[in-house]
Amino acid sequence: MTDTDVHKGLAGIVADRTAVSKVNPDTNSLLYRGYPVQQLAAGLSVEAVALLLWSGELPSTQELAEFEEFERSHRGLDPKVREAVDLLPADCHPMDVGRTAVSVMGANDPHAQTSDPAAELQKAKKLFAAFPAVLAYDQRRRRGQDPVAPRDDLDYAQNVLWMTFGEEAAAEVVNAFRVSMVLYAEHSFNASTFTARVVTSTLSDLHSAVTAAIGALKGPLHGGANEAVMHTFAEIGIRPGETREEAAARSREWMENALAEKRKVMGFGHRVYKRGDSRVPTMKESLDAMVEHYGRHELMGLYEGLESAMDEATGIKPNLDYPAGPTYHLMGFDTEMFTPLFIASRIMGWTAHIMEQRADNTLIRPLSEYSGPDERSL
Ligand code: COA
Repeated sequence: MTDTDVHKGLAGIVADRTAVSKVNPDTNSLLYRGYPVQQLAAGLSVEAVALLLWSGELPSTQELAEFEEFERSHRGLDPKVREAVDLLPADCHPMDVGRTAVSVMGANDPHAQTSDPAAELQKAKKLFAAFPAVLAYDQRRRRGQDPVAPRDDLDYAQNVLWMTFGEEAAAEVVNAFRVSMVLYAEHSFNASTFTARVVTSTLSDLHSAVTAAIGALKGPLHGGANEAVMHTFAEIGIRPGETREEAAARSREWMENALAEKRKVMGFGHRVYKRGDSRVPTMKESLDAMVEHYGRHELMGLYEGLESAMDEATGIKPNLDYPAGPTYHLMGFDTEMFTPLFIASRIMGWTAHIMEQRADNTLIRPLSEYSGPDERSL
C-alpha cells in the first residue's frame, strides 16, 4: 500500500450514495431532496422540512397538519429523561445532557429495537418532537429557573423559544430561529451523519446511532464551532454600545495576531466548501435582522472585522457556525446551548440518513495501513 492509497480523514472519498441532500462546492449550493436550501429557508416551516427530508417529497396540506398534531402531542419532557438529566452534574456540558437524554429515550422506547421503516419513521418523529424540551429544560435549570411546559398552540420554532425563555418571541426572532433550524437540518456525509450511518450499518438501533452522532457533533471541528465562535467574540471583548467601526478594528487586529500565531479560528473553513459555505448568506440575513432587532451593532462590527481580516490574509470563508453563533447569542441562549440547538435540527438529517442506510445496508468497515513495529517475538 502506498501513501497515496491512504486517505486520511477520508478526504475526497465517496463512501456511498445518498438521495437526502447534495452539496455542490463548485456552485456553492446545497439541495435537500432536490430543493435549494435557500428556497426552503425562505418560507417553509421546520416541520415541513423534516417531512421532506424523511419522505423525499414536500408534504401535502393534510400530511403536514397530521404531523403538526403529532409533533405538538409529543413535546413534553419525559419524567424519566428529566430524572436522568437531574443526576448529571450541573456544570457538565449541555452536549453531555443531550447525548444522555437521547440514550435514555432509547432505553425507554418499547420500539427501540424494531427497525422496520414505519417504526424507524415513528422514532424519528418522536425524537424530533421530544428533544427541544431537553435543551429548554437544561438551559433553564442552569439559570435556576423552573421548566416551562410546551404549548400546543405554537409551531415548532415558536415553542422551542417559548419553552426556553418562558415568553412568546417576536416574529423576527422566531423567523431567524426557524431559518437556523432549516439550515442546520442536513449536510450530506458530515462527520456526525457518517457516524450515525456507521452505527446503523452494524444493525444497531436508531437511538444508538443518534447518541453516537451527538458525540461526533460535540467536537469544535464540527458542531462545537458555533459556540467556539462566541468564545472568540468574548476573547476579543463584547462591548455593547461600541460603534461597529471600533469593534471591527479591534477584531481585525485580533485576527491578524491569531493568524500570525497560526491559530485555527473556529467558524471559518470547510472540508467541502472551499469558496464559501452555501448556507452563510441566508444565515447572515437572519443575523442582520437580529442585530437590528436588538440594536447590537457592535456584534456586527466584530463579525465583519474577523471575516474581512481572514479573507484578506487567507481567502478562507466563514461556515454556517459563524453567523449562527452570534444569532443564538442575541436571542438569549447561553453559549454552551448552541450545539444542542444544532442537535435539535440535525436530528432531521441524521434520522433521514439512518433510514436510508438501513434500507440498503452494507457494513461500513474501512481498512488501515499498519505503521507499527515489524512482527517480533516476546
Ligand atoms: N483558521 C485558520 N486556518 C485555517 C482554518 C481556520 N478556521 N481552516 C483551515 N485553515 C487552514 C489550515 O491551517 C491549513 O493551512 P496549512 O495548509 O497552511 O496547514 C489549510 O487552511 C487547510 O486546512 P485543513 O484543516 O487541512 O482543511 P480541512 O479541509 O481538513 O478542514 C475544517 C476543514 C472545517 C476542519 C477546518 O477548516 C477547521 O478546522 N475550521 C475551524 C472549525 C470549524 O469552524 N468547524 C466547523 C465546520 S462546518
